[in-house]
Amino acid sequence: MAKARTVWRCQECGATALRWLGRCTECGTFGSLVEEMVEVRRPLVGAVATQGPVPLAASMSEPEQRVATGIPEFDLVLGGGLVAGSMVLLGGEPGVGKSTLLLQACDSLARAGRRVLYVCGEESPAQVAMRARRLGVAGDGLDALPEVDIAAVERVVRDSPPDVLVVDSIQTAFDPDMSSAPGSVGQVRACTARLMRIAKDLAVTTMVVGHVTKEGAIAGPRVLEHMVDVVLYFEGDRDHAFRIVRAVKNRFGSVSEIGVFEMRDNGLVGVGDPSSLFLGERTDPLPGSVVMPAMEGSRPLLVEIQALVTPSYLQIPRRLATGIENGRLLQVLAVIERRTGFGFGSHDVYVTVTGGAKVSEPAVDTPLAIALVSALRDVPVPLDLAAFGEVGLTGRVRSVSHSEARVREAVRQGLSRIVMAESSSGATVPGTDIHEAGSLGEVLEAVGLTLPR
Ligand code: TYD
Ligand code: MG
Repeated sequence: MAKARTVWRCQECGATALRWLGRCTECGTFGSLVEEMVEVRRPLVGAVATQGPVPLAASMSEPEQRVATGIPEFDLVLGGGLVAGSMVLLGGEPGVGKSTLLLQACDSLARAGRRVLYVCGEESPAQVAMRARRLGVAGDGLDALPEVDIAAVERVVRDSPPDVLVVDSIQTAFDPDMSSAPGSVGQVRACTARLMRIAKDLAVTTMVVGHVTKEGAIAGPRVLEHMVDVVLYFEGDRDHAFRIVRAVKNRFGSVSEIGVFEMRDNGLVGVGDPSSLFLGERTDPLPGSVVMPAMEGSRPLLVEIQALVTPSYLQIPRRLATGIENGRLLQVLAVIERRTGFGFGSHDVYVTVTGGAKVSEPAVDTPLAIALVSALRDVPVPLDLAAFGEVGLTGRVRSVSHSEARVREAVRQGLSRIVMAESSSGATVPGTDIHEAGSLGEVLEAVGLTLPR
């Protein structure tokens, strides 16, 4: 077969070259040339493009075809299962558990009678089989294909289309029509486009693994996000057993949902009650520790905010936040100092969210402020206290969304003393002792933290 012609295009200015160059001759940018196909042999969504207009009303009445993966937490993130013929990209750092999750999903799909083809470019079928044994995979209806050549994969799939196709990983796949190396931007784009075409042509549901590196890979999943239907990121660090699957793009569902898993010896297990996982053991009231009902998508999740305030020996005291944006910490410190009179000027401040969780919503301001002052005064807050609410620069506490869901989750976990903003909803949850505070001063007063006179 004659090689399709490719060109190298500058990602900055769009200029093309016939071979790879270290520096674009047009705009002078270094390392910006990426190989791409010259002739697009067929449009990406060929099946759709050649049909002409289709009355939307007719298509709208067709029921949406979803295939549940059988892993509830995974289905939740997908928005209720895999949409037939869609393409899902699962990104994550090496070793986080992408192959494990997909193999478990494949197993449960195969058990439900679907034909699954698992293209293993990274591992030999023997290695995949080893993992499968560990996970207790049945194996029937599940084929492994050790192949990195995407044209060969296409031939196999077109010969006998499976219901579900998994490509692990896109970085090892290569299109023989291109001269660049597997894993380069040009290659991963070309391979993804080719898989997308197969997925749409044959209505094969496709899941693709993409590695992300800590440095933010050049040829990582980021360059593919716009091409695929669903982008999921698998998060979690090696020091903690739990893993979070987060949707960052979903053409068929919400992007605010997360799935929480725990990595065990026999694979990933969905955590139905993540709050207990993140809270861990709390037996004594300790200074600087406050529980916050955070929202992850439509689900409330309890996390513990911890603060440590120590005398500083540095000229510029240290402020360090883990799991919370540093800017947020600086702002809350400034508001406390200015509006309540507590001073942190001669102290180092450390803040963390336990269990490696991340909180990015403004509702963290109130629990953070309580934790900071509690740590500064070395006075613990009651064990059964939970707090949430945004604190403005004026020191006013503003209500946040999903108040009732947050309160209910706190109560469910035995935290009945709630400090929150004055709410207009008026919803009451039985068994709670709610303190509605209008200002940061009132928040601190409600938990017994006031300036010594
Ligand atoms: P893996 O799915 O291979 O990661 P990825 O495909 O994202 O690179 O799994 C990575 C880690 O998970 C590996 O270090 C071993 C661990 N693991 C378990 O703890 N339990 C298990 O049952 C399996 C299969 C893996
Ligand atoms: Mg893997």
